[in-house]
Amino acid sequence: MNRDFVLKGNIVYAPVLGELFIAENAFLVVRDGKVQAIKTEYQGEAIDYGNRLIIPSLCDMHVHASQYAMAGMGLDLELLPWLLAYTFPEESRYADRAYAEEVYEAFAKALLRAGTTRACVLGTIHTDTVLLLMDILERTGLTAYVGKVNMDRNAPKPLCEDTKTSLGETRRWIEESLKRYTHVKPMITPRFIPNCTPELLKGLGELAREFGVPIQSHLSENTGEVAWVKALEPDAAFYGQAYEKYGLFGDGVPTVMAHCVQSPKEERALLAKNGVLMAHCPDSNSNLASGMADVRAMLDAGVLVALGSDLAGGCTLSILEAAAQAIRISKLREAAGGGRALTMPETFYLATSAGAAFFGDGPGFTPGSPLHALVLDDSHLLGTRDLKPAQRLERCIYLSRDVKISAVYANGKKIR
Ligand code: GUN
Ligand code: FE
Repeated sequence: MNRDFVLKGNIVYAPVLGELFIAENAFLVVRDGKVQAIKTEYQGEAIDYGNRLIIPSLCDMHVHASQYAMAGMGLDLELLPWLLAYTFPEESRYADRAYAEEVYEAFAKALLRAGTTRACVLGTIHTDTVLLLMDILERTGLTAYVGKVNMDRNAPKPLCEDTKTSLGETRRWIEESLKRYTHVKPMITPRFIPNCTPELLKGLGELAREFGVPIQSHLSENTGEVAWVKALEPDAAFYGQAYEKYGLFGDGVPTVMAHCVQSPKEERALLAKNGVLMAHCPDSNSNLASGMADVRAMLDAGVLVALGSDLAGGCTLSILEAAAQAIRISKLREAAGGGRALTMPETFYLATSAGAAFFGDGPGFTPGSPLHALVLDDSHLLGTRDLKPAQRLERCIYLSRDVKISAVYANGKKIR
């Protein structure tokens, strides 16, 4: 496999929040799978993408692979009844290897079609089919953190593990997956406080530190959920403190918390202090009527933020679409007297570089970063020829359904 090559096209990436780097008709020089340089002149052979845009591939920081087959279902319900009526029955099916294989294969292909090459993925409680999901993602060439979900209370019988079994299976799964993969890694995944007893939460925090494995979960998504957590953990001043109490909130290992829609100011401060990344999932937050997350306040407080699809609370895997929705929701907030709306360059940063950082990679095409790239074809959209790359990128975000992703590179390899 040749890991030395050069791509030619209109290169755009977000080096820092709010800024775009743009090089028109430029050369992206890749050596040993890593970006070496961006050059305006290059004498050797190049893969010529003509007038197309070359951007970093997308990062989905919160996605349920095990909900792919129920996308778009039951979205007239709010979170808690939706989990009971749709999600838990669907996830119960993942004890069945044949079913899991069928959906997980389709999921991996769909991620690739959406241009996502790095993701934080949730499976189910079922260790063996989670390993199967990891096999499939690795074989597809994707980079991912994947979670075997932990649940030992308030769930229907098929999804309710006994605490000891849940911890024992998590240990077995971590040990197995740490030795099996190159680009796919385990991520400890307590579903959320209502589904995990204090004993399980404490044990998971200990496992995270023992193995140095990152953590993902759900936080302050919905008012009913927040009230439930307050009843379960009366000593915690706010939801995030309950995770912190069990060592699951950025305590020595990188942590992702999805949603943070209902987070009070104190929770924002703790997210920032502990370096916990907020996965903002605007499509899900609208579908499940969870609310409008205050991303501007999070950024102003110094919280790390990136985007997630939260499929199947969200009903699309497109992180370009998530970016458009993040901008729209921030505009609705601003119109209602909230803080300044997100700009396109800011949101493009959240969709790409902010997630890349969680995977230990530099922003976009900074030299030394493994190449994760998309080639976007917008040539069929009227007016493209007269536009500058930043305007074309904006259209690719708002019109993502009409834009063709003509190539996908991950870890220095063309995978689509
Ligand atoms: N909170 C706990 N489980 C889930 C889930 O599957 N989806 C969403 N959106 N929130 C959750
Ligand atoms: Fe979720």
